[in-house]
Amino acid sequence: MKILVTGATGQIGSELVPELRKKYGDENVIATGRNIKKLKEFSEPTEVLDVLNKKKLEQVVKEHNIDVIYHLAAILSAKGEQNPQLCFKVNVDGLYNVLETARENNVEKVIIPSSIAAFGPETPDNPSEITIQRPKTMYGISKVLAELLGEYYYNKYGLDVRGVRFPGIISWKTEPGGGTTDYAVEAFYAAIQKGHYTYFVRKDTVLPMMYMPDALKALIQIAEAEPSQLRYRFYNVTGMSFSAEELTKVIQKFIPDFTADYKPDERQKIADSWPTRIDDSAAREDWNWKPDWDLERMARDMIENLSKKLRGDAYGKA
Ligand code: SER
Repeated sequence: MKILVTGATGQIGSELVPELRKKYGDENVIATGRNIKKLKEFSEPTEVLDVLNKKKLEQVVKEHNIDVIYHLAAILSAKGEQNPQLCFKVNVDGLYNVLETARENNVEKVIIPSSIAAFGPETPDNPSEITIQRPKTMYGISKVLAELLGEYYYNKYGLDVRGVRFPGIISWKTEPGGGTTDYAVEAFYAAIQKGHYTYFVRKDTVLPMMYMPDALKALIQIAEAEPSQLRYRFYNVTGMSFSAEELTKVIQKFIPDFTADYKPDERQKIADSWPTRIDDSAAREDWNWKPDWDLERMARDMIENLSKKLRGDAYGKA
């Protein structure tokens, strides 16, 4: 089986590629992205690829005889609000290029992460799969489109599009870029490097989150589920929900001198438009989803690994 990963140098891709390579063999996982320098951190096979370049995308899919695409390339919510036109281009045109290329070249499966951003203020809290969505960010709108188009391509063309709605993803290897949930990662960097963090959300802001190992597990599990196990094309998955203040307190257990203040900016409105928790019982029932990481274990592991990484950085060898 040949796998292509778009957005491979991003927060999820940089960890998904090694995980897929461990499972399916290095030579069978093609890491692609626009950032040539970061792409070079992977061993071969890699391809420089912008998902807006359909010709190149087709060429890579043909050349490597691709069976499965993990389509991760996207502009996240906060950055998307700074430049909605760019967000539309990358997330909508890029998505369309991937789906059309997959359809035209008999790709078997396309795996796409959706997000809590696909929900909106009218969504009831703890939503299940089929609910009111109405997101208010361009990123969220593009994710609803991914869900709907995915279902459309499946019903119309038999292209097996699947995905999970991720909460905020916390990880130490590669920083997220331009998301609203980034504060839950930034707090760890700041705690280790400066002992202080100024959150860009209120301290009572609660959002669903997940530690990277669970995110990788969810993506690979949904990709591998038997068709007969799937009631939906896109499933909610979650790991934990906590407030910004709870996160501060947990970090203080490991770094007692850590202090924080809270100065909400325009991202608060985005955070407030998302549910504080999501119901992942369908994933648990249908394909045995179960997260392994809770807040305290995640925080301990983050601090341990991030401290090591940052010490390495200081000596220029991370
Ligand atoms: N982490 C993403 C964001 O904040 C949500 O999918 O944009």
